[in-house]
Amino acid sequence: MQHLSQSPTDPAFVQNPYPFYDRARLAGDFFWWDDYAMPCAVSHKAVHAVLRDRRMGRECPPELAPAIPDPLRPFYDIEAHSMLELEPPRHTRLRALVLRAFTSRTIAALAPQITQLCHDLIDRFPDEPFDLLTAYAQPVPVITIARLLGVPEDRADDLLRWSNAMVAMYQARRTQEIEAAAVAASADFSDFMRGYIETRRRTPANDLISTLIAAEEQGEKLTTDELITTCILLLNAGHEATVHTLGNGTKTLLEQNFRTITDTCVEEIIRHDPPLHMFTRWVYEDVQIGNHRFKRGDQIACLLGAANRDPAVYPDPARFDPERSGPQNTSFGGGIHFCVGAPLARLELKIALDVLFARCPDLQLTAPPSYGDVYHFHGLTRLMVSAS
Ligand code: HEM
Repeated sequence: MQHLSQSPTDPAFVQNPYPFYDRARLAGDFFWWDDYAMPCAVSHKAVHAVLRDRRMGRECPPELAPAIPDPLRPFYDIEAHSMLELEPPRHTRLRALVLRAFTSRTIAALAPQITQLCHDLIDRFPDEPFDLLTAYAQPVPVITIARLLGVPEDRADDLLRWSNAMVAMYQARRTQEIEAAAVAASADFSDFMRGYIETRRRTPANDLISTLIAAEEQGEKLTTDELITTCILLLNAGHEATVHTLGNGTKTLLEQNFRTITDTCVEEIIRHDPPLHMFTRWVYEDVQIGNHRFKRGDQIACLLGAANRDPAVYPDPARFDPERSGPQNTSFGGGIHFCVGAPLARLELKIALDVLFARCPDLQLTAPPSYGDVYHFHGLTRLMVSAS
């Protein structure tokens, strides 16, 4: 397997990781990324295959599970119940409960309130240039997921703060400050959810938390800790990636001067510049994929952003083509962990972009946007625009 080195914190790479992916793909389906000391699937075919292969998964084999330092326990105690970190049978049970509460009818029924939310936010756009991320791309997904779960909207700022601190744990450059902030956020988030679940137990409402509590109380084996983690996972996963897809997508649309938002266009936005580029899998038994052998305990990284730019399946892949057809992109993952929130994310993107360009036909960039200096979230730091 060819070795390549590329610092994930190199500013040029963070701003534009795609040329590195193109170079890496020339080496075949897999390459060895020295900086992560890990094999990486880089072609669409290989990423697709690894994500669907049940001989691999997200849960660390027990004999390799690292000892968790006591100070970090509050963070990992939450992770321990996360469907995203588990494999069957626990994964199946937790995911089924969420999917039952997360039906396509429930999602479609959110359309009118998402539309209204977008209009309300646009009504407050200032006349002078402003940051579209904080004024629009952040509040749309945060408020939507808070409403869906039934968490009070006036806690949206806390949710955003806790969530940002927790997901920072996945970045390549992890410091003690980052760890301390994540631990504090985990404790606060968990306390808040525990209290809020108690409130909802006494007075159920028509929301996802109440549905999950009902499942717990009918003895469907969802413990209170699992319930807390599931709510935190939905709140965290439910907005971070959507915020950045909305930001990256709006940037591309403005740069290309393209403003007609069809379903295909939304799919192309999700393919062209996704927010999450790397997810890893543990190998559970010795396997051979193509010419490569992997053994139990190996980890393989799936480079989603690279798979989406594979010229073998997407002709002229760097081009933003709102009418592109082709296989499903890998931005939402694949296999048993395929994103639970994909239908909600697609609905939010479609409505948010539709309403934005209908209400602000003169929207334009007022400063060149740049990406945040963190590889785990490929998203903009600011998106300065003027609406009039
Ligand atoms: C454009 C926005 C989004 C993107 C790009 C995205 C991406 C992903 C990806 C790549 C995975 C799979 C990770 C893996 O296989 O290792 C995933 C899983 C997940 N996502 Fe999303 N997501 C988005 C929006 C959402 C939303 C809106 C929600 C919730 C409302 C959500 C909830 C989840 C959950 C719960 C999982 C774990 C599923 C499992 O382990 O079975 N996501 N997402």
